[in-house]
Amino acid sequence: MCGIVGYVGNRPAQEILLAGLRKLEYRGYDSAGVSLIADGEIESVRAVGNLDNLYAAVEAHAENGGVAVATRPATTGIGHTRWATHGRVNEVNAHPHFDTTDRVHVVVNGIVENYMVLKQRLLDMGAIFTSETDAEVIAHLVAHHLALGSLEEAVRAAYNELEGHFAFVAMTLDEPDVLVGARRECPLIVGRGDGESFLASAVPAFLAHTRRVQVIENGELVVVTPDDVKIMLPDGTVLDRPEETIDWDEETAEEAGYETFMLKEIHEQADAVAETIADRTIREDGVDLAEEASFDEALLEDIDRITIVACGTSYHAGLIGRYVIEKWSRVYTTMDIASEYRYRDPVVGPRDLVIGITQSGETADTLAAMRLAKERGAKVLAITNVVGSQATRDADGVLFTRAGLEIGVAATKTFVCQVAVMYLLALRLAELRGTMKTETLRRILAQFRNVPSLIDEVVAHAEADVEPIAEKFAHSEFFLYIGRNVGVAVALEGALKLKEISYISTDAYAAGEMKHGPIALLDESTPVVAVATDSPVLDKVISNMAEVRARGAKVIAVATHGNEAVREHSDYRLRVPDVDWMLQPLLAVIPLQVLAYAVARKRGLNVDQPRNLAKTVTVE
Ligand code: F6R
Repeated sequence: MCGIVGYVGNRPAQEILLAGLRKLEYRGYDSAGVSLIADGEIESVRAVGNLDNLYAAVEAHAENGGVAVATRPATTGIGHTRWATHGRVNEVNAHPHFDTTDRVHVVVNGIVENYMVLKQRLLDMGAIFTSETDAEVIAHLVAHHLALGSLEEAVRAAYNELEGHFAFVAMTLDEPDVLVGARRECPLIVGRGDGESFLASAVPAFLAHTRRVQVIENGELVVVTPDDVKIMLPDGTVLDRPEETIDWDEETAEEAGYETFMLKEIHEQADAVAETIADRTIREDGVDLAEEASFDEALLEDIDRITIVACGTSYHAGLIGRYVIEKWSRVYTTMDIASEYRYRDPVVGPRDLVIGITQSGETADTLAAMRLAKERGAKVLAITNVVGSQATRDADGVLFTRAGLEIGVAATKTFVCQVAVMYLLALRLAELRGTMKTETLRRILAQFRNVPSLIDEVVAHAEADVEPIAEKFAHSEFFLYIGRNVGVAVALEGALKLKEISYISTDAYAAGEMKHGPIALLDESTPVVAVATDSPVLDKVISNMAEVRARGAKVIAVATHGNEAVREHSDYRLRVPDVDWMLQPLLAVIPLQVLAYAVARKRGLNVDQPRNLAKTVTVE
């Protein structure tokens, strides 16, 4: 996903913008650029490929006397990392884009849907386009409307003509201390400093400078100067928006000695889960959610059904949620892929609770599914990791995971925290509905409280256990994952993790389905990962493992430490400690994250930024 950063203030903007773009690298990009205003000139420098190329291009530009290092360094500028949608990956398609007279520069995330119509109109008026992008139309449109008198008015007029989902920031030579931003769907956030302001698509871009933020809501515009921020509606109505303080610190956005962010985040899982459940599990015989400012327990009352909607890894967390909510609280629960739900004309109404799980809180399909459910009268609960994200505003209530900033594209610590929130919710529902014996509730809660202290041990064991497996199978063409009950979700998540960071083809199945087709895939070369932790369905999983081995395939079992039957029927083991079998997925997934990591590293791949993937998918 593209990244935006903008700066107006009293310090040299160039370094701030480049450093800001570095912090957005994790979102994925294929080209980048910056524009700066100084000494009555506006200039942009763009480069294809990684940010090192942009740094080199900026340097070369400076040597040729460019504004980028003017005698008085620029204190206003915008920067962008582009993820190609319309137009090839090349320098002219990289942002910033500018108008024909080179007075207005813009950086844009998202998609302008009506750009063809607008482009034709602007071409007819004499505009000269230099790129193949939809985004360039915004620069020309804003420039055209500058005749209205100010950049603010020009952006407002342009905004009202644009269709699509986007966020953009514009600046003009005529008003060198002003940035104007606009948001429709795609995120945009203001950072407030002393005598300086930032505008970015995500907080890490300016976290080194300030933690004071003002969120721009969907359908709003913002005028930013060094000392002032004016947020308004497209008709010009000015809004009052209080500042919030983000509690992530800069360190969260650093690798802190780990070779990758993903590895760091795998190691942060114990703390993240501890943080997520801490004050919510203090009571011996119940879970406390009622005190949370963002959540009203009335949401859990008068409901007949729960539908969980999510995408990708968050979908797998929801799948675990489905099993535990039904088992513990006896509420009929289904799980839906958000992109299917929203286009399916679902049966949903006032006696439904729809839960949207999204770590970013910005995933377009999940947001759309939540909105659809709300329109049809359902209560909507969001489970997200990002304070101030769109999901938090669209939902009737929010339960936050407290994983901290996750930078690796592959979700790890946010996933285990989502699973933890599923447990919290299921236990609370069970308590409210009286569907669980008090001693069972107490026993499970006691184990749940202890889960964070087991995670570090699971990671350490996994790091040792995966070595021979990664060594043997790093160059396999295909991995099959199987499991039963909650183990299906673990299998699906393990398969997704391996697929997305190692580019090895994977499939994941409910093990009972093996003989209905997938077994045909197996031969001596196939590694099969079986989620075979202790549970009432373990015997069934073991039978499936035997079937697999009878075809000569190799079984890698995620197994409860010391289980001899699993040892007998498998070739490799990934050990996890014994906990209640419904809590097991939270631990069982960790060796599979570590396995995926080890295989991808053996293949020499960049796990933090897998090809073709972005951390936040704000466009459907
Ligand atoms: C995979 C991964 C993705 C996300 C998915 C949804 O590791 O991270 O599959 O889970 O894109 O993202 P959120 O949770 O932000 O809605």
